[in-house]
Amino acid sequence: MNITETQKFDLKKLVQDRRSEQFDLFEKFVNPKLMKVLRTIGFDRQYVRAEGAYLWDSAGNRYLDFLSAYGVFNIGRNHPVIGKTIQDYLDLLDPWKVQLGASLLPGLLAERLLGFAPHLSKVQFTNSGAECTEAAMKFVRCATGRQRILYFDRAFHGLSYGSLSMNGCNSFREGFGSFLPGVDCIPFGDLEVMEKELAKGDVAAIFVEPIQGKGVFPATDEYLLATQDLCRKFGAYVVLDEVQTGMGRTGKMFAFHDIEGLKPDLLLVSKSLSGGMVPVGAVLMRDEIYHRVFSSLDRCVVHSSTFGQGGLAMACGLATLDILESERLPENAAKQGAALLSGLRAMAERFELVKEVRGRGLMIGIELCQPKSFGLKSSWKLIHAADGGLFPQSIIMPLMDDYRILTQVAGHNMDIIKLLPPLTISDQDTSYFLEAFGSVLEACHRFLGPAWTTASRLVKFSVTSR
Ligand SMILES: Cc1ncc(COP(=O)(O)O)c(C=O)c1O
Repeated sequence: MNITETQKFDLKKLVQDRRSEQFDLFEKFVNPKLMKVLRTIGFDRQYVRAEGAYLWDSAGNRYLDFLSAYGVFNIGRNHPVIGKTIQDYLDLLDPWKVQLGASLLPGLLAERLLGFAPHLSKVQFTNSGAECTEAAMKFVRCATGRQRILYFDRAFHGLSYGSLSMNGCNSFREGFGSFLPGVDCIPFGDLEVMEKELAKGDVAAIFVEPIQGKGVFPATDEYLLATQDLCRKFGAYVVLDEVQTGMGRTGKMFAFHDIEGLKPDLLLVSKSLSGGMVPVGAVLMRDEIYHRVFSSLDRCVVHSSTFGQGGLAMACGLATLDILESERLPENAAKQGAALLSGLRAMAERFELVKEVRGRGLMIGIELCQPKSFGLKSSWKLIHAADGGLFPQSIIMPLMDDYRILTQVAGHNMDIIKLLPPLTISDQDTSYFLEAFGSVLEACHRFLGPAWTTASRLVKFSVTSR
Protein backbone atom coordinates (compact mmCIF):
# COMPACT_ATOMS: atom_id res chain seq x y z
CA MET A 1 0.00 0.00 0.00
CA ASN A 2 1.44 3.40 -0.92
CA ILE A 3 1.26 6.55 1.16
CA THR A 4 -1.05 9.08 -0.45
CA GLU A 5 -0.58 12.85 -0.83
CA THR A 6 -3.05 13.54 1.96
CA GLN A 7 -1.23 11.37 4.50
CA LYS A 8 1.19 13.87 5.95
CA PHE A 9 2.24 12.40 9.30
CA ASP A 10 6.04 12.74 9.58
CA LEU A 11 7.49 11.46 12.85
CA LYS A 12 11.04 12.72 12.26
CA LYS A 13 9.83 16.24 11.52
CA LEU A 14 7.52 16.20 14.54
CA VAL A 15 10.39 15.22 16.84
CA GLN A 16 12.70 17.81 15.34
CA ASP A 17 10.12 20.62 15.49
CA ARG A 18 9.08 20.03 19.09
CA ARG A 19 12.24 18.69 20.71
CA SER A 20 12.70 21.83 22.80
CA GLU A 21 9.33 21.23 24.51
CA GLN A 22 10.33 17.78 25.79
CA PHE A 23 10.50 18.57 29.51
CA ASP A 24 7.67 21.12 29.55
CA LEU A 25 5.26 18.64 27.93
CA PHE A 26 6.34 15.83 30.24
CA GLU A 27 5.92 18.08 33.26
CA LYS A 28 2.52 19.34 32.15
CA PHE A 29 0.91 16.15 30.88
CA VAL A 30 2.82 13.09 32.09
CA ASN A 31 4.55 13.23 35.47
CA PRO A 32 5.49 16.57 37.05
CA LYS A 33 6.80 14.90 40.23
CA LEU A 34 9.26 12.81 38.26
CA MET A 35 10.33 15.90 36.33
CA LYS A 36 11.08 17.66 39.61
CA VAL A 37 13.21 14.74 40.79
CA LEU A 38 15.10 14.69 37.50
CA ARG A 39 15.82 18.41 37.73
CA THR A 40 16.94 18.09 41.35
CA ILE A 41 19.45 15.33 40.77
CA GLY A 42 20.61 16.69 37.42
CA PHE A 43 19.16 13.83 35.36
CA ASP A 44 17.19 16.22 33.15
CA ARG A 45 19.49 15.69 30.17
CA GLN A 46 18.07 16.02 26.72
CA TYR A 47 19.28 12.87 25.05
CA VAL A 48 18.91 12.97 21.30
CA ARG A 49 20.50 9.68 20.27
CA ALA A 50 21.27 6.27 21.76
CA GLU A 51 23.40 3.41 20.51
CA GLY A 52 24.80 0.40 22.33
CA ALA A 53 25.87 1.40 25.83
CA TYR A 54 25.87 5.14 25.04
CA LEU A 55 23.53 8.11 24.93
CA TRP A 56 24.25 11.52 23.43
CA ASP A 57 22.76 14.83 24.54
CA SER A 58 21.85 17.78 22.34
CA ALA A 59 25.27 19.35 22.93
CA GLY A 60 26.97 16.22 21.56
CA ASN A 61 28.18 14.88 24.91
CA ARG A 62 28.39 11.10 25.23
CA TYR A 63 27.05 9.30 28.32
CA LEU A 64 27.88 5.78 29.45
CA ASP A 65 24.67 3.97 30.43
CA PHE A 66 25.32 1.72 33.44
CA LEU A 67 21.59 1.08 33.99
CA SER A 68 20.21 -0.04 30.60
CA ALA A 69 16.73 1.10 31.73
CA TYR A 70 16.89 -1.42 34.60
CA GLY A 71 17.88 -4.31 32.39
CA VAL A 72 15.85 -3.69 29.25
CA PHE A 73 18.77 -3.12 26.88
CA ASN A 74 20.98 -6.16 27.46
CA ILE A 75 21.98 -6.11 23.78
CA GLY A 76 22.56 -2.34 23.84
CA ARG A 77 20.22 0.35 22.56
CA ASN A 78 19.02 0.51 18.95
CA HIS A 79 20.84 -2.62 17.88
CA PRO A 80 21.03 -2.60 14.05
CA VAL A 81 19.78 -6.20 13.80
CA ILE A 82 16.67 -5.26 15.79
CA GLY A 83 16.18 -2.28 13.44
CA LYS A 84 16.47 -4.57 10.42
CA THR A 85 14.15 -7.15 11.99
CA ILE A 86 11.49 -4.51 12.59
CA GLN A 87 11.82 -3.38 8.98
CA ASP A 88 11.73 -6.98 7.70
CA TYR A 89 8.67 -7.69 9.80
CA LEU A 90 6.85 -4.71 8.30
CA ASP A 91 7.87 -5.83 4.82
CA LEU A 92 6.33 -9.27 5.47
CA LEU A 93 2.86 -7.72 5.98
CA ASP A 94 2.53 -10.53 8.54
CA PRO A 95 -1.06 -11.65 9.11
CA TRP A 96 -0.63 -12.07 12.87
CA LYS A 97 -3.53 -12.19 15.28
CA VAL A 98 -6.12 -13.77 13.08
CA GLN A 99 -8.98 -14.70 15.38
CA LEU A 100 -9.04 -17.64 15.58
CA GLY A 101 -5.65 -18.61 14.29
CA ALA A 102 -2.15 -19.76 15.17
CA SER A 103 0.81 -17.89 13.69
CA LEU A 104 4.37 -19.01 13.07
CA LEU A 105 6.49 -16.63 15.12
CA PRO A 106 5.16 -17.50 18.64
CA GLY A 107 5.86 -21.16 17.91
CA LEU A 108 9.39 -20.35 16.74
CA LEU A 109 10.16 -18.17 19.75
CA ALA A 110 8.68 -20.70 22.18
CA GLU A 111 10.77 -23.46 20.60
CA ARG A 112 13.89 -21.30 20.90
CA LEU A 113 13.21 -20.29 24.53
CA LEU A 114 12.44 -23.83 25.63
CA GLY A 115 15.84 -24.83 24.25
CA PHE A 116 17.26 -23.00 27.28
CA ALA A 117 15.01 -24.91 29.70
CA PRO A 118 14.43 -28.35 28.15
CA HIS A 119 12.60 -29.63 31.24
CA LEU A 120 9.80 -27.15 30.47
CA SER A 121 7.52 -27.59 27.49
CA LYS A 122 4.98 -24.79 27.01
CA VAL A 123 5.17 -20.99 26.83
CA GLN A 124 2.54 -18.39 27.65
CA PHE A 125 3.50 -15.06 26.06
CA THR A 126 2.69 -11.76 27.79
CA ASN A 127 3.51 -8.06 27.39
CA SER A 128 5.48 -7.36 30.59
CA GLY A 129 7.13 -8.78 33.67
CA ALA A 130 4.11 -8.02 35.85
CA GLU A 131 1.87 -9.85 33.40
CA CYS A 132 4.18 -12.87 33.65
CA THR A 133 3.77 -12.76 37.43
CA GLU A 134 -0.02 -12.48 37.16
CA ALA A 135 -0.20 -15.43 34.76
CA ALA A 136 2.08 -17.55 36.93
CA MET A 137 0.01 -16.76 40.06
CA LYS A 138 -3.14 -17.94 38.29
CA PHE A 139 -1.46 -21.02 36.86
CA VAL A 140 0.03 -22.30 40.12
CA ARG A 141 -3.26 -21.85 41.96
CA CYS A 142 -5.18 -23.59 39.21
CA ALA A 143 -2.66 -26.42 38.76
CA THR A 144 -2.42 -27.25 42.47
CA GLY A 145 -5.91 -26.34 43.66
CA ARG A 146 -4.15 -24.51 46.51
CA GLN A 147 -4.51 -20.83 47.30
CA ARG A 148 -1.42 -19.75 49.20
CA ILE A 149 1.59 -18.22 47.49
CA LEU A 150 4.82 -17.37 49.27
CA TYR A 151 7.22 -14.57 48.37
CA PHE A 152 10.25 -13.03 50.06
CA ASP A 153 10.88 -9.78 51.85
CA ARG A 154 12.45 -7.25 49.45
CA ALA A 155 10.90 -9.14 46.50
CA PHE A 156 9.91 -7.31 43.33
CA HIS A 157 7.68 -9.02 40.76
CA GLY A 158 5.85 -6.01 39.29
CA LEU A 159 3.28 -3.41 40.28
CA SER A 160 -0.10 -4.76 39.12
CA TYR A 161 -2.40 -5.97 41.96
CA GLY A 162 -1.33 -9.61 42.02
CA SER A 163 2.34 -8.83 41.66
CA LEU A 164 2.07 -5.93 44.11
CA SER A 165 0.56 -8.39 46.60
CA MET A 166 3.99 -10.06 46.41
CA ASN A 167 6.02 -6.88 46.71
CA GLY A 168 8.41 -6.86 49.63
CA CYS A 169 8.76 -3.08 49.75
CA ASN A 170 6.06 -1.13 51.59
CA SER A 171 6.69 2.13 49.79
CA PHE A 172 5.21 0.59 46.62
CA ARG A 173 2.14 -0.73 48.47
CA GLU A 174 1.17 2.27 50.56
CA GLY A 175 -2.11 3.90 49.58
CA PHE A 176 -3.40 1.11 47.37
CA GLY A 177 -5.73 -0.65 49.79
CA SER A 178 -5.86 -4.38 50.43
CA PHE A 179 -4.08 -7.01 48.42
CA LEU A 180 -4.73 -10.60 47.34
CA PRO A 181 -5.49 -12.87 50.30
CA GLY A 182 -3.31 -15.95 50.80
CA VAL A 183 -0.17 -14.28 49.45
CA ASP A 184 2.34 -14.31 52.29
CA CYS A 185 5.81 -12.91 52.81
CA ILE A 186 8.59 -15.06 54.30
CA PRO A 187 12.11 -13.94 55.25
CA PHE A 188 14.71 -14.31 52.50
CA GLY A 189 17.28 -16.90 53.56
CA ASP A 190 15.33 -18.56 56.39
CA LEU A 191 14.72 -22.22 55.48
CA GLU A 192 13.09 -23.04 58.80
CA VAL A 193 10.27 -20.58 58.30
CA MET A 194 9.90 -21.72 54.69
CA GLU A 195 9.60 -25.36 55.74
CA LYS A 196 7.07 -24.50 58.45
CA GLU A 197 4.87 -22.66 55.96
CA LEU A 198 5.18 -25.33 53.26
CA ALA A 199 4.41 -28.10 55.73
CA LYS A 200 0.90 -26.64 56.17
CA GLY A 201 0.22 -28.25 52.78
CA ASP A 202 -1.73 -25.31 51.32
CA VAL A 203 1.05 -23.55 49.38
CA ALA A 204 0.75 -23.50 45.59
CA ALA A 205 4.17 -21.97 44.90
CA ILE A 206 7.10 -19.89 46.05
CA PHE A 207 8.16 -17.01 43.81
CA VAL A 208 11.86 -16.24 43.91
CA GLU A 209 14.37 -14.03 42.09
CA PRO A 210 17.81 -15.67 41.77
CA ILE A 211 19.24 -12.24 42.62
CA GLN A 212 16.80 -9.86 44.25
CA GLY A 213 16.71 -6.75 42.11
CA LYS A 214 15.94 -4.42 45.02
CA GLY A 215 19.28 -4.05 46.72
CA VAL A 216 20.98 -6.74 44.59
CA PHE A 217 20.81 -9.61 47.09
CA PRO A 218 21.83 -12.93 45.48
CA ALA A 219 20.29 -16.16 46.76
CA THR A 220 23.01 -18.75 47.31
CA ASP A 221 22.96 -21.86 45.11
CA GLU A 222 22.35 -24.00 48.20
CA TYR A 223 19.39 -21.87 49.24
CA LEU A 224 17.75 -22.10 45.84
CA LEU A 225 18.30 -25.88 45.72
CA ALA A 226 16.95 -26.28 49.25
CA THR A 227 13.91 -24.19 48.26
CA GLN A 228 13.35 -26.52 45.33
CA ASP A 229 13.72 -29.63 47.54
CA LEU A 230 11.27 -28.31 50.11
CA CYS A 231 8.76 -27.30 47.45
CA ARG A 232 8.94 -30.77 45.90
CA LYS A 233 8.58 -32.42 49.30
CA PHE A 234 5.40 -30.47 50.06
CA GLY A 235 3.86 -30.38 46.57
CA ALA A 236 4.45 -26.69 45.79
CA TYR A 237 5.92 -25.22 42.62
CA VAL A 238 9.05 -23.05 42.29
CA VAL A 239 8.49 -19.98 40.14
CA LEU A 240 11.84 -18.49 39.19
CA ASP A 241 11.52 -14.84 38.25
CA GLU A 242 14.34 -14.15 35.77
CA VAL A 243 12.77 -10.97 34.40
CA GLN A 244 15.90 -9.07 35.43
CA THR A 245 18.55 -11.80 35.77
CA GLY A 246 17.71 -13.49 32.46
CA MET A 247 18.87 -12.96 28.88
CA GLY A 248 22.57 -13.22 29.66
CA ARG A 249 22.71 -10.70 32.50
CA THR A 250 24.48 -12.92 35.04
CA GLY A 251 26.96 -14.48 32.61
CA LYS A 252 24.77 -17.37 31.43
CA MET A 253 21.60 -17.11 29.33
CA PHE A 254 19.65 -17.62 32.57
CA ALA A 255 20.92 -17.41 36.14
CA PHE A 256 19.62 -20.92 36.93
CA HIS A 257 22.05 -22.37 34.35
CA ASP A 258 24.82 -21.71 36.85
CA ILE A 259 23.22 -23.93 39.47
CA GLU A 260 23.54 -27.66 38.86
CA GLY A 261 20.23 -29.40 39.55
CA LEU A 262 18.02 -26.30 39.69
CA LYS A 263 14.97 -26.87 37.49
CA PRO A 264 12.25 -24.30 38.17
CA ASP A 265 8.67 -25.39 37.44
CA LEU A 266 7.90 -22.00 35.91
CA LEU A 267 10.37 -19.47 34.52
CA LEU A 268 9.47 -15.79 34.02
CA VAL A 269 11.25 -13.86 31.25
CA SER A 270 10.65 -10.31 30.03
CA LYS A 271 12.55 -6.95 29.86
CA SER A 272 15.39 -7.68 27.41
CA LEU A 273 13.64 -10.50 25.56
CA SER A 274 12.69 -8.27 22.63
CA GLY A 275 15.86 -6.18 22.66
CA GLY A 276 14.13 -3.24 24.33
CA MET A 277 11.87 -1.90 21.58
CA VAL A 278 8.68 -3.91 21.92
CA PRO A 279 6.90 -5.01 25.12
CA VAL A 280 7.13 -8.76 25.65
CA GLY A 281 7.13 -11.41 28.34
CA ALA A 282 7.12 -15.20 28.50
CA VAL A 283 6.11 -17.74 31.14
CA LEU A 284 7.82 -21.07 30.52
CA MET A 285 6.17 -23.96 32.34
CA ARG A 286 6.04 -27.69 32.87
CA ASP A 287 3.70 -29.68 30.67
CA GLU A 288 1.49 -30.73 33.59
CA ILE A 289 0.88 -27.09 34.54
CA TYR A 290 -0.24 -26.22 31.03
CA HIS A 291 -2.59 -29.22 30.92
CA ARG A 292 -4.13 -28.49 34.32
CA VAL A 293 -4.86 -24.87 33.41
CA PHE A 294 -5.88 -25.33 29.77
CA SER A 295 -7.71 -28.49 30.75
CA SER A 296 -10.35 -28.74 28.03
CA LEU A 297 -11.16 -27.38 24.58
CA ASP A 298 -13.49 -24.96 26.31
CA ARG A 299 -10.54 -23.58 28.24
CA CYS A 300 -8.12 -23.29 25.29
CA VAL A 301 -7.91 -19.49 25.73
CA VAL A 302 -8.71 -19.37 29.45
CA HIS A 303 -5.72 -17.07 29.92
CA SER A 304 -4.68 -14.64 27.19
CA SER A 305 -4.36 -10.96 26.35
CA THR A 306 -4.97 -9.04 23.14
CA PHE A 307 -1.33 -8.24 22.43
CA GLY A 308 0.25 -11.41 23.88
CA GLN A 309 2.24 -13.21 21.15
CA GLY A 310 2.53 -9.88 19.28
CA GLY A 311 4.15 -10.53 15.92
CA LEU A 312 6.71 -7.74 16.21
CA ALA A 313 7.60 -8.78 19.76
CA MET A 314 8.08 -12.40 18.67
CA ALA A 315 10.27 -11.34 15.73
CA CYS A 316 12.42 -9.14 17.97
CA GLY A 317 12.64 -11.93 20.55
CA LEU A 318 14.04 -14.31 17.95
CA ALA A 319 16.53 -11.64 16.81
CA THR A 320 17.58 -10.85 20.39
CA LEU A 321 18.35 -14.47 21.23
CA ASP A 322 20.41 -14.68 18.07
CA ILE A 323 22.32 -11.49 18.93
CA LEU A 324 23.02 -12.65 22.49
CA GLU A 325 24.49 -15.90 21.19
CA SER A 326 26.31 -14.66 18.08
CA GLU A 327 27.92 -11.74 19.93
CA ARG A 328 28.64 -13.97 22.94
CA LEU A 329 27.10 -11.37 25.22
CA PRO A 330 26.56 -13.63 28.27
CA GLU A 331 30.30 -14.40 28.11
CA ASN A 332 31.09 -10.69 27.93
CA ALA A 333 28.78 -10.09 30.91
CA ALA A 334 30.75 -12.69 32.87
CA LYS A 335 34.09 -11.12 31.87
CA GLN A 336 33.20 -7.46 32.44
CA GLY A 337 31.27 -8.36 35.60
CA ALA A 338 34.28 -10.15 37.06
CA ALA A 339 36.50 -7.14 36.31
CA LEU A 340 33.99 -4.73 37.87
CA LEU A 341 33.50 -6.89 40.96
CA SER A 342 37.22 -7.26 41.58
CA GLY A 343 37.94 -3.56 40.96
CA LEU A 344 35.09 -2.50 43.25
CA ARG A 345 36.01 -5.01 45.96
CA ALA A 346 39.52 -3.61 45.97
CA MET A 347 37.96 -0.18 46.57
CA ALA A 348 35.87 -1.60 49.44
CA GLU A 349 39.12 -2.39 51.20
CA ARG A 350 40.43 1.16 50.74
CA PHE A 351 37.28 3.18 51.39
CA GLU A 352 35.44 3.03 54.69
CA LEU A 353 32.17 4.15 53.08
CA VAL A 354 31.91 0.90 51.10
CA LYS A 355 30.48 -1.99 53.10
CA GLU A 356 30.07 -4.68 50.46
CA VAL A 357 30.14 -5.26 46.72
CA ARG A 358 27.98 -8.16 45.53
CA GLY A 359 26.33 -9.59 42.43
CA ARG A 360 26.99 -11.82 39.48
CA GLY A 361 27.85 -10.94 35.88
CA LEU A 362 26.59 -7.45 35.13
CA MET A 363 24.14 -7.16 38.02
CA ILE A 364 26.09 -5.51 40.80
CA GLY A 365 25.21 -3.78 44.05
CA ILE A 366 27.57 -1.51 45.98
CA GLU A 367 26.39 -1.17 49.56
CA LEU A 368 27.58 1.88 51.49
CA CYS A 369 27.80 2.13 55.27
CA GLN A 370 28.30 4.65 58.03
CA PRO A 371 31.99 5.63 58.10
CA LYS A 372 34.00 5.33 61.31
CA SER A 373 35.97 8.59 61.21
CA PHE A 374 34.33 11.25 63.34
CA GLY A 375 33.68 14.00 60.77
CA LEU A 376 32.31 11.68 58.09
CA LYS A 377 30.25 9.78 60.65
CA SER A 378 28.43 12.85 61.92
CA SER A 379 27.71 14.11 58.39
CA TRP A 380 26.39 10.63 57.47
CA LYS A 381 24.14 10.60 60.54
CA LEU A 382 22.82 14.08 59.87
CA ILE A 383 21.95 13.28 56.28
CA HIS A 384 20.31 9.96 57.21
CA ALA A 385 18.32 11.55 60.02
CA ALA A 386 16.85 13.97 57.50
CA ASP A 387 16.22 11.41 54.74
CA GLY A 388 17.11 7.70 54.73
CA GLY A 389 17.39 7.39 50.97
CA LEU A 390 19.45 10.34 49.83
CA PHE A 391 23.07 9.57 50.54
CA PRO A 392 23.81 7.44 47.43
CA GLN A 393 22.95 10.49 45.32
CA SER A 394 26.17 12.09 46.52
CA ILE A 395 27.93 9.45 44.44
CA ILE A 396 25.38 9.06 41.64
CA MET A 397 25.20 12.81 40.93
CA PRO A 398 28.93 13.44 40.48
CA LEU A 399 29.18 10.27 38.39
CA MET A 400 26.64 11.91 36.10
CA ASP A 401 27.91 15.49 36.30
CA ASP A 402 31.64 14.89 36.13
CA TYR A 403 31.93 11.60 34.25
CA ARG A 404 28.62 11.32 32.36
CA ILE A 405 27.86 7.86 33.72
CA LEU A 406 24.28 6.79 34.54
CA THR A 407 23.76 4.76 37.71
CA GLN A 408 20.93 4.63 40.27
CA VAL A 409 20.00 3.63 43.80
CA ALA A 410 19.01 -0.02 44.19
CA GLY A 411 15.69 0.68 45.95
CA HIS A 412 13.83 2.92 48.39
CA ASN A 413 15.75 3.95 51.48
CA MET A 414 18.77 1.87 50.60
CA ASP A 415 22.40 2.94 50.75
CA ILE A 416 23.03 0.75 47.76
CA ILE A 417 24.07 1.77 44.26
CA LYS A 418 23.08 -0.55 41.45
CA LEU A 419 24.96 -1.28 38.23
CA LEU A 420 23.08 -2.90 35.37
CA PRO A 421 24.92 -1.94 32.17
CA PRO A 422 24.22 -3.39 28.73
CA LEU A 423 26.09 -6.64 28.18
CA THR A 424 27.91 -4.97 25.29
CA ILE A 425 30.24 -2.83 27.43
CA SER A 426 33.91 -2.96 26.47
CA ASP A 427 37.12 -3.29 28.51
CA GLN A 428 37.52 0.50 28.11
CA ASP A 429 34.02 1.16 29.49
CA THR A 430 34.76 -1.00 32.51
CA SER A 431 38.10 0.73 33.17
CA TYR A 432 36.54 4.16 32.70
CA PHE A 433 33.78 3.32 35.17
CA LEU A 434 36.21 1.99 37.79
CA GLU A 435 38.42 5.06 37.47
CA ALA A 436 35.45 7.41 37.75
CA PHE A 437 33.91 5.54 40.68
CA GLY A 438 37.24 5.54 42.52
CA SER A 439 37.64 9.29 42.06
CA VAL A 440 34.10 10.00 43.26
CA LEU A 441 34.60 7.78 46.31
CA GLU A 442 37.88 9.56 47.05
CA ALA A 443 36.05 12.90 47.04
CA CYS A 444 33.37 11.43 49.32
CA HIS A 445 35.97 10.57 51.90
CA ARG A 446 37.04 14.20 52.19
CA PHE A 447 35.22 15.66 55.16
CA LEU A 448 32.97 18.49 53.97
CA GLY A 449 34.15 17.79 50.44
CA PRO A 450 31.86 18.31 47.44
CA ALA A 451 29.96 15.05 47.95
CA TRP A 452 28.76 16.07 51.40
CA THR A 453 27.73 19.50 50.13
CA THR A 454 25.67 17.78 47.42
CA ALA A 455 24.00 15.52 49.98
CA SER A 456 23.23 18.42 52.35
CA ARG A 457 21.76 20.40 49.46
CA LEU A 458 19.51 17.46 48.59
CA VAL A 459 18.41 17.07 52.19
CA LYS A 460 17.37 20.72 52.30
CA PHE A 461 15.46 20.25 49.07
CA SER A 462 13.76 17.02 50.15
CA VAL A 463 12.68 18.45 53.50
CA THR A 464 11.21 21.58 51.90
CA SER A 465 9.37 19.70 49.16
CA ARG A 466 7.55 17.16 51.38
C1 LIG B 1 12.38 -9.48 38.87
C2 LIG B 1 11.29 -8.67 38.24
N1 LIG B 1 10.09 -9.21 38.05
C3 LIG B 1 9.09 -8.51 37.51
C4 LIG B 1 9.26 -7.20 37.12
C5 LIG B 1 8.12 -6.42 36.53
O1 LIG B 1 8.33 -6.19 35.19
P1 LIG B 1 7.50 -5.04 34.42
O2 LIG B 1 8.03 -3.72 34.88
O3 LIG B 1 7.76 -5.32 32.98
O4 LIG B 1 6.07 -5.23 34.78
C6 LIG B 1 10.50 -6.59 37.29
C7 LIG B 1 10.71 -5.18 36.90
O5 LIG B 1 11.66 -4.54 37.24
C8 LIG B 1 11.55 -7.35 37.87
O6 LIG B 1 12.75 -6.81 38.06
